Parts: sequence; C-alpha cells; structure tokens
Amino acid sequence: MQKKLWPAVAIAAAVSAAAHAEMPPPGLDFAPMSTVLNAFASAAAHRRAETLVNKMTIDEKLQFIHSEYAMSAVPGGGAGYIQGVPRLGIPDLNMVDSATGSGSTNQPSTTFPATLAVAASWDRALSWNFGKQIAIQLRQQGFGMGLGGGTNLAREPRGGRLFEYLGEDPVLAGEMLAERTDGTQSQKVIATIKHYMGNEQEHNRGGGNSQIDERTMRELYLLPFEIAARRAQPGSVMCSYNEVNGTYACENSHILNDVLKNDWHFEGQVQSDWGAAHSTAAAINAGLDEEEDVGSTVYLTPTLVKQAIANGSVSTARLDDMVERKLYVMIRTGVMDDPPKGGATIDFSAARAFTQSVEEQSMVLLKNASNQLPLSAGSLSRIAVIGGHADAAVLTGGGSGNTRDPVTGAFAGCGGLTFGTSTGCSWWTNPWLKLNTPIVSAIKALAPQATVTFAGNSDQQSPFAAYTQQQITQAATLAANSDVAIVVVAQPAGEDIGDLPSLGLANPTNQDALVEAVAAANPHTIVVVESGNPVLMPWKDSVSAIVEAWYPGEGGGNAIANVLFGKVNPSGKLPVTFPMRDQDTPTWGTNGAFAANPVYSEKLDMGYRWYDSQNITPMFEFGYGLSYTHFAYSGLSVQHLPGGLIDVSFNVRNDGRVAGAEVPQVYLGVPYQGEPPRRLVGWDKVGLNPGESRRVHVVVTQRMQSVWDTTSNRWRYVPGSSVYVGASSRDIRLQGHG
Ligand code: BGC
Repeated sequence: MQKKLWPAVAIAAAVSAAAHAEMPPPGLDFAPMSTVLNAFASAAAHRRAETLVNKMTIDEKLQFIHSEYAMSAVPGGGAGYIQGVPRLGIPDLNMVDSATGSGSTNQPSTTFPATLAVAASWDRALSWNFGKQIAIQLRQQGFGMGLGGGTNLAREPRGGRLFEYLGEDPVLAGEMLAERTDGTQSQKVIATIKHYMGNEQEHNRGGGNSQIDERTMRELYLLPFEIAARRAQPGSVMCSYNEVNGTYACENSHILNDVLKNDWHFEGQVQSDWGAAHSTAAAINAGLDEEEDVGSTVYLTPTLVKQAIANGSVSTARLDDMVERKLYVMIRTGVMDDPPKGGATIDFSAARAFTQSVEEQSMVLLKNASNQLPLSAGSLSRIAVIGGHADAAVLTGGGSGNTRDPVTGAFAGCGGLTFGTSTGCSWWTNPWLKLNTPIVSAIKALAPQATVTFAGNSDQQSPFAAYTQQQITQAATLAANSDVAIVVVAQPAGEDIGDLPSLGLANPTNQDALVEAVAAANPHTIVVVESGNPVLMPWKDSVSAIVEAWYPGEGGGNAIANVLFGKVNPSGKLPVTFPMRDQDTPTWGTNGAFAANPVYSEKLDMGYRWYDSQNITPMFEFGYGLSYTHFAYSGLSVQHLPGGLIDVSFNVRNDGRVAGAEVPQVYLGVPYQGEPPRRLVGWDKVGLNPGESRRVHVVVTQRMQSVWDTTSNRWRYVPGSSVYVGASSRDIRLQGHG
C-alpha cells in the first residue's frame, strides 16, 4: 500500500525546506488549497479506509474496482455506478458527466456555458464557483461524483472537444481546473480530472498513439494535471483512450505510477475512460484502480481479477490499495458519511442567473472599430438580428460534455426546437438549446423603442442547412434598412464526431458569405460568434465589431444582449490563439490531414508559443480581449524573494470612462535551449472604476522559472529570465529581468 502520511509530512517538510534551502521542493510551487489541518483529516481518512478494507470480503473489494453497469442501466441517468456495502456503512456511488452541467440522461439539469468560456474569464473565483454550482445540482440529483474536469490542451485547435477544456496554456488550464475541482469537492462531490493524457484530438480517438517527448510532456501536457492534482487533490484522474509513446494510457506505468502516484504523490484513484482499459494485470500493475464498463470488452471483472490474483500476476496488496484509494476519496470528500440522496428540488432560476453571470464574464470583445459597441438603445430605431437561430436558441457542444435537456430531462433531440432529428440535429452531435430569452427577445427588452427584426433562418429549417442565396439577399436588404445589423454565426463541435475539418465556419457552409453580404449592406455590422474552437474570420476587416460568445449556456441570450448594450463591460481574454488561416496552425502539416498517431514534433512550441517562435502573426493572440474602457500599465518592479521566488509588481490604471476589469498577464522568457520566447507564469483579474489604479503583485515560483532537464530527469531552475507584463501574449506593456 501507499505511504499514508504524505500530505502532513510533505507540507511540513516543504515549509521548512523553503525557509532554509535554495530550491524548494516542487510541492510548494503548487501549494495545496486545503490547509495543513486538512492534511491530518486526510491521514485519518486513510486509516479509516484501511480499516474498512480489512473488513471487506474479496467479492466486496472486487465490486469497488469495476463499474459493471452499462450506461443505459445506470441509476439516475448517470454514466457509472458502484454498489455500496451496507453492512459496513459504505453507500452506493453514482457518477455522471458534468463538463457544462449534469449529463444525466433522465433528469432536468441546467446548461452552463462551455468550460472553455470559463477559461476565457481568467477568473479563479468564478471557476471555483462554477465547480460548486454544478456540484450542487449533481448532489440534488443523487450523484456523488462528477466527471467534468476536462483539461487536455488545445494543441489541435480543430479538436472536437476543445469546448470541454481550458485552452492552450498549461498554467491557465491547471489553475482554473484546480479551482473548479476544489469548488466541486466543497459540495461533497468527488471530482474527476481527465483525459490523462496526450488525448488532444478526436481523430482515431479509440487508440491513436500520441508520441510526446518527456520534456514536452512535463512542461506542457502533464502540467495542468499536475497543478490540479497537487493543489486541489481531485478524488479521481481518468486515463484516456489513446496510447502514450506506444502504451495505452490506462496501462502506462510511467504516467500513472511514476509521474502521477510517485512524483506527484496523488492519493486518489485512477479510473479508466469508458472502455479505455485493455488488460487486467498489466493495467492494474501500471496503476489503473477502476475500470468503467461500456458493456463490451471488460478487464477488471471479478472473474478476471480473481484469476490474476490466483496466478500471481496481481497481488492482494495491490487490490487492497485500489479499494483503499476509492474508500479514502469517499471519506475525505464526505460522500461516505453524507451520501447524496437525490430527488431534491433544484432552484433552476438561481442556476440560470449564475450561468448568465459566468457568460457575462467570459465573452471576449475581439474588435470594436470606432467604439461601435456598446450600442445605445435610445439612438437606434431599427435593429436587424440575422442568422444563428438567434430568435430561438444557442449552440452547445455535443457528446458527453453536453447537458441533455434543461427543462424536461428527456432527450429532446434538438433542444426543444421544432426542427427534428431528421434535419441532422441530435442531442449528441449537433445540439441546439432553446432559450426562454433568446438573443432577439433579450435585445427587444433592452431596446423597447426600437423595431427588432430577425432574418436568416427558421426553426423548420435544419440548423446546418446552408443559407440560400434568397436568405442572404433578404438579410442584406434588412441590414440595409436598419441602423445596425447583428449577425450571429455558429460553429458546432463535439465528442465522437471527429475534429473540425477547418477552423472556417463550415456548418452551415456559407456563413462567411452571409456576413460579407450584410457587412456590404450596413457599415454598422456586429458579429457574435458561438463556438467552442477558434474561428477563421475572412470578413474581419469588413465588420465593425466582433464578440466571441463561446457556447454560452442557457443564460446566453441575456448575457450577449447585456454586453452588446453595455450593461456588462466585457472582460474575457482568449484562452486559445485565433489564427489567420488553418495553414498557420502547428498541426496542419501540408494538407490538414489528421495524424492517426500524432507526433508532437513542435515540442514546446504549441499554442501561442508556436506563433511567437515561428514569427507568424495570428488574427487574435492568446490572452487578447478588448474592453469598453482602457488600461494603462506602469511602474514595473521585479524583486527577488527568499526561495528563488520573484515578486513582479506593477500598476494598472483604468484611464477610460467606465468601470471595467483587466487581466494583466506575466510571461517569462526563460534563457534555455528549446524554450519558447514567452510562457505564461501568472496573472490577476482586477476590477477598476474610472481613474482607479491598483498595484498588482504576481509571485513567480522557482518551478515556473524551471525547465525539465532530460539528463537528470528533474526540474532545473534557470535564473535570469526576461519578465514581460502584458495585456495579452503580444501586447507587452512592461519589460524587466528576473
Ligand atoms: C468520454 C468521457 C466521459 C465518458 C462517460 C467517454 O466517451 O470520453 O469524457 O466521461 O464517456 O460518459
């Protein structure tokens, strides 16, 4: 079994080492969010779990390492189920997907904005609350475990599941995931983080071999998991479908045993993605603790594990460790003593208000020529709203990251719209969500004196049918006769339907033509984008304003209208680069074909690091986003603190005329071969009234100044980094030396 007293001992050791030694142990860099006192609770939980394991029969133990219910049979419409042991007071455990709200297939749930939107808020407290609010509904529905913590990096910008993740930077993604995880577990719901690891594309999703060198893994793809695992101690890490360097992730001893359990001291359990286990003894000995069944081939069944124990390929000590990990997590999170009962009344209107506030803090203002936005209701008499089913619905992401039906809990096909599945719309692949207050109604409420007219498409038409020439002409005519034209474009994506062939607005195919025609007819054209990926915008220079609204969730109509009319000042910043062309992205290659077995040959030059190192100008860079006010930066100071820490401090002043929030970002240029020009090491989000100024401090740990040294197989501190403070990864306002 694992050593039990790690957290208390390690924290004490880390604190004392930091006071005396030059290089603090890595644990201190990602200090646990819970307190030292909690570490004692954790040790007690281990002791209690161990006592329970000692009382369990072999059959009871085997019940805890395999969710044997095919998904269609899981109680409460969840994704997996572990039966409890009443004689020992161990309750049942129901798990469910929860990326953007509960994924229960038969209970009503709230649809929150896409996880990528939360990353765009760069607001740690918001991410914590996001995890908490979703967990409240999970418990009310009877679920003790939420599978929503996706954090694969956006290496492949066309990735079908990007909306479920947290962008292209490992520190932003890791910090936001740690917050979300802690928020979830604060509600006595076990949080899973996924998909561990190298699972950055959907193409060949069942078993592609991701080939990633160790340094690139440590510095990029493992890092968000490391930050979340160390800081928030999620109950579970889900290993992914793919292979990592030739071995399936769920039987890869290097990433499970060496890195996760040994290097990071992870005390929770490793669960497989659904159907991602490929062996019995090999997987168990490599670190897999629980298999999730998809009703087909299974490996951690009672029969097979008993055989493996009998023939000596799996030890009883290892079985005990697997079960102990699960029980420990149930005890530590509170699920053991206070299991969710389900059947509780959910406050859907409070949840909707919360989803709206998340969206309001996540939208990114990409362009605002001549201060076209915010719109002034009093000066507009004719407003055209065009396309994107903006009179009825918003787009959500597809697959297990979708939230089924927020009103009835049933599979409503296309979110309650009148177009049916025969039109190519389904809850899994192309989900649209009917809103109580769609964009058109929300705009009408904010501009009651104006005539608001919608054109473009109707509910009866497939949401993926191309706009006809007649519809485009009608839309342009309406725009020509309006004071302002708001065009909504949408890019569907989701799990298990492949990656996007292009970042262009492929579906409906001629949305670009629609935007161009409207922009030619009206100089005051504003584009609202609903997407879970970066989008190409060949019409960028023809329109006057662009707002990225992501998949905005069920408060999206009001949130979008509030930003357009200035009730909310946008403060989101891009968590992914928006390139000019597909050809500029690191994974496009010669013809955009997806690799069945991707080689991560760009190494550390992924995301903005790619554009910076290759000198490619993106359309909108990582970290970019405008506001209705502006901010001035001054007074940089870089102070060295004991333990190799650097305190980067500077002033940010709102020198515009409205209140707003800025996200000042700190990047380092680490002087070491192979490092990109800049890497994000910290940020803050500060709300400022007009004329107000704040001194911002971002403390950079030694680990953030380190590289993975492949010779010694350890982190190596590299002194003397360049320090950049920016309003984005390219809009650098202040510069100094560390
Ligand atoms: C997905 C996971 C999900 C699981 C259970 C799998 O297909 O990859 O993200 O949690 O299904 O629904």
